Amino acid sequence: MSSHIIKFDLCDHVMVSADQDKIGSVITNLISNAVKYSPKGKDVEIKCEVVDHWAQVSVKDKGIGLKPADQDKVFDRYYRVESSNTQHISGFGIGLYLSAEIVHRHEGEIWVKSESGHGSTFYFSLPLYEKEK
Ligand SMILES: Nc1ncnc2c1ncn2[C@@H]1O[C@H](COP(=O)(O)OP(=O)(O)OP(=O)(O)O)[C@@H](O)[C@H]1O
Ligand SMILES: [Mg+2]
Repeated sequence: MSSHIIKFDLCDHVMVSADQDKIGSVITNLISNAVKYSPKGKDVEIKCEVVDHWAQVSVKDKGIGLKPADQDKVFDRYYRVESSNTQHISGFGIGLYLSAEIVHRHEGEIWVKSESGHGSTFYFSLPLYEKEK
C-alpha cells in the first residue's frame, strides 16, 4: 500500500568512497522519517547534487516540521520531540543519531532545515572521491 508520493531528482555519475550498506541505511532512515512525520498523500523529494567538493543528498517532506530548538537536538541519542502531533508515532529516537554517526565517520556532514508546521529537509554530504593527479 502506498501512502506518499516519492520523487527522485538524482545526479549523474558521482563517486564517493563509502560503505554502501551504511549510507543506504542513512537514506532509508531519512525517507522513513519523512514518511512517518508527514501526512498521507504528501510528496517526499529525494535529491542528489554536487556542491563544491561534496555529494549532497537531501530528503524533503511537507510534514509536521521541527521548531528551531528541536532542530539542534534531533541528532542526539534517544531524543524525540514530544507534542500532540508525535505522541502516537512510535520510535526509539536513534535513527538520526546513528545516521549522524555514520555520516561523520565518512567525514561528511548532516543537518536539517525546517519550518514547524510546513515540513523539513534533511541533508547530508560526503566528500567526492577525487583521483590524485
Ligand atoms: N522528517 C521529520 N519531520 C519532523 N520531525 C522529525 C523528522 N525526522 C525526525 N523527526 C523528529 O526527530 C526525532 C528523532 O528522529 P529519529 O529518527 O532519531 O527517531 P524516531 O523516528 O523517533 O525513532 P527511530 O529510532 O525508530 O528512527 C523524532 O522522534 C521526531 O520527533
Ligand atoms: Mg526515525
